[in-house]
Amino acid sequence: MQIKEFAQEMAESGINIFVYDISLNVLLNSSGQKFISDNEAAAKCAEEVLASQSGAIAESGKTGQMLSCCLISDGTAAAVIVADCGPETQISRFVKYALRIFVRSFQNDIKNSQQIELISGELAQTYEELMLLYKMSTNMKVSQSDLNFLQLACDSMMEIVRVEGIAIFLEKKIEDTRKLVLSAGTGLLAIDHKSDNSVEILFERMQDVLASGSDALTDSEVNGVYKYEWSVRVENIIAVPLSCNNKIIGMMIATNLLDRNDFDTNNIRLFNAVATECAIFIGNQNHFMDLKELLIGSLKALVNSIDAKDQYTRGHSDRVAIISKWIAEHYSKSKKIGQEDIQKIYLSGLLHDIGKIGISEEVLKKPGKLTEEEYEEMKNHPAIGAGILSEIQQMSEILPGILHHHERFDGKGYPKGLAANNIPLMGKIVMIADSFDAMTSERTYRKALSVDDALKEIEANLGRQFDPAIGQIFLKSDITKLWEILQTGQNDDQYHDSSIDFGATAIGALVH
Ligand SMILES: [Fe+2]
Repeated sequence: MQIKEFAQEMAESGINIFVYDISLNVLLNSSGQKFISDNEAAAKCAEEVLASQSGAIAESGKTGQMLSCCLISDGTAAAVIVADCGPETQISRFVKYALRIFVRSFQNDIKNSQQIELISGELAQTYEELMLLYKMSTNMKVSQSDLNFLQLACDSMMEIVRVEGIAIFLEKKIEDTRKLVLSAGTGLLAIDHKSDNSVEILFERMQDVLASGSDALTDSEVNGVYKYEWSVRVENIIAVPLSCNNKIIGMMIATNLLDRNDFDTNNIRLFNAVATECAIFIGNQNHFMDLKELLIGSLKALVNSIDAKDQYTRGHSDRVAIISKWIAEHYSKSKKIGQEDIQKIYLSGLLHDIGKIGISEEVLKKPGKLTEEEYEEMKNHPAIGAGILSEIQQMSEILPGILHHHERFDGKGYPKGLAANNIPLMGKIVMIADSFDAMTSERTYRKALSVDDALKEIEANLGRQFDPAIGQIFLKSDITKLWEILQTGQNDDQYHDSSIDFGATAIGALVH
């Protein structure tokens, strides 16, 4: 019941009610119009009861006609209420009883509203945390890079937990030593990870704390002194592990809360939940990479087995893939194709002759020129290859390179006789790569051409066999370097981690 309502009810029974704030200013003066109160006496009652900070009802006046008590909120007086019952002393007992009930209900109302406020605050926080975890789990696509995902985690955490800086460090092997590498971060971290080994020290401390059964390392000056020595900028800190297959692979750190002095159990829970999602993501990525490597390994084994049918074409598909990638990379500098297109062109180069699996060995292995009939059989291999791969939905994007790698710019190629710009880009690129490798490889019926002679042959056939624009891009590229890559298999790729097979990365371009 509100104070005004209570005062009104009392007024109907002829009782005067005063309400004071804690500075004894009158907030409410309600009169029952039956008698005039002594305002000074009422104020004195209020003063006395306020000094006592008591919620119990005090009586004053000879006949106990003035009843007063504090309205308590959070253990202290928030206001004082005084009821003047007037000269009719017999009603003061009734008023005392009513006042007691009112005070009790008033106090309960305050407690309830505080609890509602607390719960709704906690609910809002929990909702935000849930949304963060939901956002992260919906972003857990294996085709997304680790770094994007980890950055999303840091950015989203920054929106919920008000700190100066958040970062994720992952343990990586660099030149035979394990180092913690900054993999994502937002804001300004109070730990200097560049100039000294403070991150490594923190990582060790966190592992010690975890070994003792805690869920996180937290430290601050609250409750005495810091547990550890930190750089001067650290006011408070939290570090939680990223664990994958029971192994700690990194940690998430946050420093210097903006609105509080220390990280609490809710923070520890949230940081651990987010770090777990990050670790699961990294684990999935590793599995995905294993699968990609397995798939590319199988595909390479397959094309190698086809190449091996003819001793003179050993390694041909691998080299065509590398040359196709080389041309695509140079083409991408001036035209609008991206990294994924380059990866698809590489794969179409690798698998361009996969259809030879359907060509008889007599034809494939025949030394010397093919008869017209044999040549007709051989011409089926692009369509056979495209047919095999069309069974695999993810391969659909590389089919043009396989089906059209024998189309000529002048329209005299096969299987469709497409000309000029009707030939898909992949087909044009693989055509040049395939021809260059064929010319520079020894065949049963002729010696290998020198690189220079092969390039002259390509130049002479621009506009006939080869697309002039793409041919020129190839001819103008640093062929000596390409030749070195083909001989050594070493590819210093600016976009690509050289420790991982490019083919495995390229397979990723086919998974959406
Ligand atoms: Fe071919």
